[in-house]
Amino acid sequence: MKFIVCKNYDEVMTEAAAIVAGVVREKPDCILGLATGSTPLGMYDRLVAEYEAGKLDFSRVSSFNLDEYYPISPDNDQSYRYFMNTNLFNRINIDKANTRVPNGSAADPEQECKDYEAAIDASAGVDIQVLGIGQNGHIAFNEPEDKLYAYTHLTGLTENTIKANSRFFENESDVPRQALTMGMASIMKARKIILLATGAAKCEAVKELLSDRITTAVPASLLKLHPDVTVICDEAAYNCN
Ligand code: PGA
Repeated sequence: MKFIVCKNYDEVMTEAAAIVAGVVREKPDCILGLATGSTPLGMYDRLVAEYEAGKLDFSRVSSFNLDEYYPISPDNDQSYRYFMNTNLFNRINIDKANTRVPNGSAADPEQECKDYEAAIDASAGVDIQVLGIGQNGHIAFNEPEDKLYAYTHLTGLTENTIKANSRFFENESDVPRQALTMGMASIMKARKIILLATGAAKCEAVKELLSDRITTAVPASLLKLHPDVTVICDEAAYNCN
């Protein structure tokens, strides 16, 4: 696991966008692994700016997203499909037919998970996976537990995550209680992973990444088993005060 420590949020986003843009330039038909959450927003803005400046072409790019609430309609403005469309896909020239987000309105969620994992396997493989990290060390909806799951699965949200995500909903009771999420192995199928962490609230989670422990109590710590992971963080997330 490699660490790049930047001064602040903006520098983390600039660094992350440069890495992703580099992959797109080098491999115009690359497959991006994308994440929602507030952290990557600045990276998406920078990729959009490069596209608008005529410096990036997404016409042959495809993507897989990490997760989606369940149940939720893709049109719901809190769905991760809606988030990706408004923050990235609608603003660049990617073919939306080539973007995948688990379907939060699938009638059979277990089958949707199987199909999603099969689609990842049938693809040429994710070239670069972008990850955020929860304050509790979760990645996607792989929450701290005695047992983690390898592949895309239906899971319950922890109280911690429901609280953290309730800021986007009118009431905490509106936050869906379940999600469809890539598992640890699905994420680690990516050839390269960048994990973005900013702000003091993430420093305990980053501290675990800096240690040599691997524990299901901090799902992101399992990324130490992957040969090409770069954590890009700001000083606040890197140094716990
Ligand atoms: P955040 O979420 O980017 O909104 O902090 C990250 C996560 O929970 O994975």
